[in-house]
Amino acid sequence: MRIVDLIEKKREGGEHTRSEIEQLVLGFTRGEVPDYQVAAWLMAVVWRGMTPVEAADLTRVMAASGQRLDLASVGRPVADKHSTGGVGDKTSLVVMPLVAACGVPVGKMSGRGLGFTGGTVDKLECFPGMQMDIDARRFVRQLRDVGLVITGQSADLAPADGKLYALRDVTGTVPSLPLIASSIMSKKLASGAHVIVLDVKAGAGAFMKSPAEARALAEIMVAIGRAAGRIMAAVVSDMSQPLGRTVGNALEVREALDTLEGHGPDDLQPFAVELASLIVALATDGLQGREDVKTALNTGAGLAAFRRLVEAQGGDPRAFEDREALPRAARQVPVPAPSDGYLARLDALSVARAATLLGAGRERKGDSVDLAVGVELLAKVGDSVGAGEPLAVLHVNDEQRLAEAQAALLSGMRVSPHHVPRPSLILDRIGS
Ligand code: URA
Repeated sequence: MRIVDLIEKKREGGEHTRSEIEQLVLGFTRGEVPDYQVAAWLMAVVWRGMTPVEAADLTRVMAASGQRLDLASVGRPVADKHSTGGVGDKTSLVVMPLVAACGVPVGKMSGRGLGFTGGTVDKLECFPGMQMDIDARRFVRQLRDVGLVITGQSADLAPADGKLYALRDVTGTVPSLPLIASSIMSKKLASGAHVIVLDVKAGAGAFMKSPAEARALAEIMVAIGRAAGRIMAAVVSDMSQPLGRTVGNALEVREALDTLEGHGPDDLQPFAVELASLIVALATDGLQGREDVKTALNTGAGLAAFRRLVEAQGGDPRAFEDREALPRAARQVPVPAPSDGYLARLDALSVARAATLLGAGRERKGDSVDLAVGVELLAKVGDSVGAGEPLAVLHVNDEQRLAEAQAALLSGMRVSPHHVPRPSLILDRIGS
């Protein structure tokens, strides 16, 4: 078929064969099919959707478009955990060391923060010297020797996704469940893990605004992974307010270290234990689970695993003993509560906006970030607050946009005179 026939077929709601998807996607990756035709096809997919078989075929074609890691030499099932992205989401920094401390090797490819979402790569760069471009050979060796490795996204894995995502970004074709699912899962399949647990976020600070949409995305990804022979599970978790009590790279690293020392926030800590327990149970066929994860937390074995990761990748581990070794902002500015009552709203997107205005986030790919700045949340939804007491503290280096950041933060907060229940964090589970 000609490419225009494939575009018309999708425009009319038709179902592609695997070879049609190959023709389009691999042709585009090789530079033989022009951007404008692929953009038209992507828009047709946004409107017409894809069947589960098409989404699985698209994922496999993208996964096979570049290098695929072979993790067989690790000798044990390797686990990966993926979050669809949110505000203050430092879960990976806690979950991965806890899982590794239970003897389950964890290998993960992470991204940098973009827009309102943070990225694990930026956070880990708070340890001076930390190398985040680990090549395939070293990735496998570190998995065997250390049991834990995290690297930035490699251009060699699923290059078709890299090209398609860049085009989707500028053609209004990101929000499509099959396109998001195949984009995420192609990278997961190419990076080789046997056990994959997905944390699909729902709410103002997430791609998926409602739990129903997030569940639908999770179901597609779980089905794609299973069809490719992977052990899969997913949770849908709330991202209407940020996770934990910090948003900003060094602040989040500090919180992750505190959590691995057993004194983390009352949402992040149980959530991390829950996810780690799920991964460990799936990777060990149920032989290990929650008790092992709790032991790893209580004995400091998880913290020790995190330290081994930092040292293996050339990072300076001083922050493990002395948090002052982490980047620190020049000034801390409290944001007072306007009245007595209970915090009823803490909009994740407004907090992200405030953090980005202070320099913690990226508006565009390639922008630099200030690792030290961000927002510390002293109250979360359901907490009682007193008029004039600080609701949050802004960690500031550049004062230029401070007033704007304060206004952004306050626009997303509401204090109610009535008692407000704390929202649940885990909203749904798929396949666990
Ligand atoms: N993250 C990805 O990797 N791909 C998408 O399409 C959306 C989020």
